[in-house]
Amino acid sequence: MSESNSSSAIVGIVMGSASDAEVMKLCRDVLEEFGIPSEMRVMSAHRTPEQAIAWVSAAEASGKKVLIAAAGLAAHLAGVSAAHTNLPVIGVPMGGGPLQGFDALLSTVQMPKGTPVGTVGVGKAGAVNAALFAVRILALSDAGLRERLVAYGEKQVADVLASDKALNDSLS
Ligand code: RP5
Repeated sequence: MSESNSSSAIVGIVMGSASDAEVMKLCRDVLEEFGIPSEMRVMSAHRTPEQAIAWVSAAEASGKKVLIAAAGLAAHLAGVSAAHTNLPVIGVPMGGGPLQGFDALLSTVQMPKGTPVGTVGVGKAGAVNAALFAVRILALSDAGLRERLVAYGEKQVADVLASDKALNDSLS
């Protein structure tokens, strides 16, 4: 069975529109790489506020430990989520639209004091980093996950060194 959308999900990924799904699948893929079951949902702070609030409000009782909320334009989904749970909420501003995500970045990051959202960068890099940030949170209480996180970092170093060598070999 896929690790995604299982009843044992410990990370909830919610996005404001199906148009966000292509980018947010990158987030789900990283969680899968670490063996973390997640649940992906489309729910909007503007278009389906009651459903979004109900899902977020039930997230902790359903076993989730971290929520990731992605939205574009006037992006209120992460903030509304943080207002309805005590779980850590990571906000991912979606790019696109007439302002290329700058609107979503400000809407997500500029939370008033008292209701925190940990905001990552716009678009694909943010989607991947949201997953890695969730992994770091979960690794605080999971030694096996921490080992996989260390291995991930080591592979990243090896990959950059290999690409540096390949570049230099091709130039010499
Ligand atoms: C936001 O508006 C969504 O998160 C999406 O990024 C953006 C555009 O949504 P669609 O018009 O493509 O459904 O709510």
